[in-house]
Amino acid sequence: MSGLRTRDSRAAQRNAASQSKTGLEEFPPAARRFESVGFSEIVKVRNRVLELLAAGHEVWRFEGGEPYMPTPQPIKDAMAAALARGETRYAPSSGIPELRKAIVQKARGKNGIPADDDSPIVVNGGMHGLFSAFATLLDPGDEVLMFSPYWTPIVDVVAYHGALPVLVPAARARREGLTAALARAKTPRTKLLYWNSPVNPTGDVFSRREIEEVCAFVRETGLAIISDEAYEDLIYEGEGDVSPASFPGMFERTISVFTLSKTYSMTGWRAGYVLVPKRWRLPMQTIVLYSINGVSTPTQWAALEALRLSDAFLREAREGYRRRRDALVAGLRAGGFEIETPRAALYLFPRVPAYLGTDSRAAARALLDTARVATVPGLVFGPEGEGHVRFSFSVSEDTIAGGVEALKMLDAMPVSRERRPIPRV
Ligand SMILES: Cc1ncc(COP(=O)(O)O)c(C=O)c1O
Repeated sequence: MSGLRTRDSRAAQRNAASQSKTGLEEFPPAARRFESVGFSEIVKVRNRVLELLAAGHEVWRFEGGEPYMPTPQPIKDAMAAALARGETRYAPSSGIPELRKAIVQKARGKNGIPADDDSPIVVNGGMHGLFSAFATLLDPGDEVLMFSPYWTPIVDVVAYHGALPVLVPAARARREGLTAALARAKTPRTKLLYWNSPVNPTGDVFSRREIEEVCAFVRETGLAIISDEAYEDLIYEGEGDVSPASFPGMFERTISVFTLSKTYSMTGWRAGYVLVPKRWRLPMQTIVLYSINGVSTPTQWAALEALRLSDAFLREAREGYRRRRDALVAGLRAGGFEIETPRAALYLFPRVPAYLGTDSRAAARALLDTARVATVPGLVFGPEGEGHVRFSFSVSEDTIAGGVEALKMLDAMPVSRERRPIPRV
């Protein structure tokens, strides 16, 4: 330990000495790996919304990505009971045995994933599970295939590891053939495919046949999959979630990442789990140990209660989401947005009407500054998102009604139709 400290302080001294020669202030710079890593643009939208709210404006907020309902009471009660029982000490860093057992049962029963008792590792939500999965598999210079549009943070997490995201436009690949599109994008440096279905931001769900095709490609080319199934339970019509790891020979090459955030309205609890095949288990356990040394013990007891919750909660939640989705789809269509009803997740990803132009950042700014409707510019989700904006329909029904009314006013405003400069507050 003291050796380490000496080495660190020598490095700092070297750094300081070299900087003082140039006359700069004497602080070590942040690690170089951050040079290619961006910071969430969604946060910038949120900051602008907060500015408007602080200035006393009403804002119709569709920029978020959280369940609208509170965490179910039995989950909160389980946390309180765990605290009352004194469950406040270190737990095994991969998770308490009771929760890991429940995860195995759920994965085998509901997802059809042939998990064994040691497969699950409890993590601090989906983001942490994904970060740990990429940390487990990526070396600098590796390439990662991913369909676009994609969930924004992934390109930055890949870049953080010195690897390169290689985007495969999803709509074109689905039209013209997934195997051919993936084969075109694959190089000898490709290590894995990041898979996300249901998709944030489009709400699309890949079909079983498509997933089978992608899995065959991955198997035949010797790749790994990181499968992000954050929205597995938020599918409103048709076929349910199909896990890549459920296909023959796929569990061995897949890290499946699940979160309790969306299913159980637990975004703030930071609880999720990954299922890891044996060959990558030790590195994954190591990264979880050294990053968090386990999820908070009372939270894990609450997570166990969530997995035991009856289906009635989910049926009701889905009904509420479906109603909101349909109301917002109808309202957006009336406002000139071009949109098909998505089958899953929490988002609508319409093409913006012609009077707002084709630049999604300008369109989102115009929506916010003139109609006080907050959305996320589509470009944030990759080049294939340009010309779109993302609305969350996981908001109150009053917000949907108010936002749709505000859009009508915008549509009627000659200023925006003629694309004159948009007034800013
Ligand atoms: C596709 C996708 N994956 C993973 C996550 C991470 O969820 P959390 O870290 O809140 O569990 C999100 C959150 O928005 C998401 O949209």
